Amino acid sequence: MSEPTLDRRLDRLIDLLAENATVVVSGTRLAAELRVPQSTLWGWIDRLRSIGVEVRGLPGSGYQLAKMPDVLTPQAIRHRLHRGQFGCRIHHHYKIDSTMNEAARLAAAGAPHGALAVAEEQTAGRGRLGRSWFSERTAGIYFTLVLRPSLSPAAAPVLTLWAGVALAEVLSETSGLPMDLRWPNDVLVNGKKCAGILVEMTAEPEKISHVLVGLGINANHSEIPRELAAEATSLRLEAGRSFSRLELLIAVLERMESYYNRFQEQGAGIVVRRFCEISSYAQGKRVKVTDGSGVVSGVTAGLTPEGVLLLRRDDGRTEKILSGQVRPE
Ligand code: BTN
Repeated sequence: MSEPTLDRRLDRLIDLLAENATVVVSGTRLAAELRVPQSTLWGWIDRLRSIGVEVRGLPGSGYQLAKMPDVLTPQAIRHRLHRGQFGCRIHHHYKIDSTMNEAARLAAAGAPHGALAVAEEQTAGRGRLGRSWFSERTAGIYFTLVLRPSLSPAAAPVLTLWAGVALAEVLSETSGLPMDLRWPNDVLVNGKKCAGILVEMTAEPEKISHVLVGLGINANHSEIPRELAAEATSLRLEAGRSFSRLELLIAVLERMESYYNRFQEQGAGIVVRRFCEISSYAQGKRVKVTDGSGVVSGVTAGLTPEGVLLLRRDDGRTEKILSGQVRPE
């Protein structure tokens, strides 16, 4: 069997400390359980501290967690998550380029429907339309699900709306703040973006092979970089308090799975209708839409049953918007 990676061993160290949270665990015991010299253990404790895990070192006696860490270890997720397909495999990383890349590797290696790639930090997080996604360490929630839906490629756009509906519901219930959805993939609070969805599909002409559904949630950022601040915010900045990332992740995964099952049974209508109920952008909003070929303006006129946005142009024509960036005009 191959050696566990450093990420797996750090997960195991957190789990050992968490399992013994009320007592001081000796360095000798931790090192023995992890099968490493004490000098390596010290380095790993420092790594955990650098990501915000508060580990108390008591000279001569050992280590103790100062408080339960909000780290998304597979063990912590599994312990809380209902038994379903989403999260059936969990791949957790402290630092990764992008969970989309990791999920693509997993999917190519045959990962099952519902496999989850989750990271504390991304160095090359990406958004829609070639943008990057700011992925500050342990402040946000960054994950990608591998799905193997039995859908035709033409039905894939609704997957972005499905994830948005689940996300908006959970974020508003958890924070008490009203969430808005901006077609196709933005979750907004007080007019600014607090979460986004990126869907990447691999398909044959008639059949989807797999879909990667990536979600980024600005949960506990205490600041937003200046260049993003006009457009983006975090739940913490809006609500004035911080949130358990673990609780949020669990709630989002469970809501996504429950909507997914309903959507499989009842069809896309359930998602499209719910999207229109939540979104102030779906109907009667004056917007401009920018895509590779230019900018068009008009008033939104609902969504098609497949989740395509309808835009009533000033000359009275109604246009189907298949992609692009929607902004208020
Ligand atoms: C967008 O709003 O443009 C989509 C943002 C999607 C960000 C998430 S974070 C987890 C996953 N990994 C990535 O690199 N991107 C998605």
